[in-house]
Amino acid sequence: MVVDKNIIMEIEALKKEKNAVILAHYYQTPDIQDIADFVGDSLALSQQAAETSADMIVFAGVKFMAETAKILSPRKKVIIPDMMAGCSLADSCKKEDFEKFIQENPGRTVVTYVNTTAEIKALSDIACTSSNARQIIESLPDDEKLIFCPDRNLGNYIKSLTGRDILVWDGACHVHEQFSLEAILRLKKENEGAKIIAHPECERPVRMVADYIGSTSGLLAFVSKDQGKTFIVATEPGIIYQMKKAQPEKNFIPAPPKDSTCGCSECSFMKLITLEKIYKSLKFEEPEVTVDASIIERAAVPIKRMLEISAKLGL
Ligand code: 13P
Ligand code: SF4
Repeated sequence: MVVDKNIIMEIEALKKEKNAVILAHYYQTPDIQDIADFVGDSLALSQQAAETSADMIVFAGVKFMAETAKILSPRKKVIIPDMMAGCSLADSCKKEDFEKFIQENPGRTVVTYVNTTAEIKALSDIACTSSNARQIIESLPDDEKLIFCPDRNLGNYIKSLTGRDILVWDGACHVHEQFSLEAILRLKKENEGAKIIAHPECERPVRMVADYIGSTSGLLAFVSKDQGKTFIVATEPGIIYQMKKAQPEKNFIPAPPKDSTCGCSECSFMKLITLEKIYKSLKFEEPEVTVDASIIERAAVPIKRMLEISAKLGL
């Protein structure tokens, strides 16, 4: 990828002038990961958003992540370079439907994956990310009955790990449900000794054949400490840039999608963010992410509860 050096210099100058920080998710393109002040998974990014001393946060990620930053730092200006950077998983849980679901299943503690809108978080008791979902659920009393939303794959995975009474919302991510088990197994045969690593948002058959299941940061840590030389990576391929940086001598093969006409499993929402859009958003300070004050007040409760437990557990 040819990166325009001028645009990088302009971004650096604007960052200084405005005391801005760029937070980028691992699914962003390499050029964006390289100019970011911090690159991480959704848990680490929310921790950064809560702690930064910058006046402005430019979020190179998707809208629910930028909203989380705004909820945690309401006095800061939060900018997302493309407002259309949504999330199919967050879209699979609409406020009216979820409100009805909670009413129909009273007495259950609502555990919400951060891949949700601020409105859904405002209806929840505690949040989690894929990095801490198990520990968050295990921190709740054993006899507490739970609702987990919105990802059915992560929800059912955690339910099987913990044996807890969890009612799982039927949502999913279009990227992680795309992986072809057949193609993954074929690749494993063709690459002797290759290990399959998968994000918990993947479907059960893919999780069943995985040597390791974890969040993006979990997958990154695994390839660094594992003795394996080749890994078939069942998550958005943006993370492979950091894997290659950390372990240049190892091989990383993106898991292929079911639809063989499209060779990759990129998240089209994540990939809406470009260096040029970052530059423009910094310069003009828009589009700005705004969240209604009453929603911020209620949505901050489950997110802060999650961050407190994560901090106590050293996550
Ligand atoms: P992480 O929690 O691993 O950052 O995953 C976020 C995400 O959007 C997965 O699709
Ligand atoms: Fe949402 Fe899936 Fe994209 Fe993650 S990969 S941001 S869950 S659509």
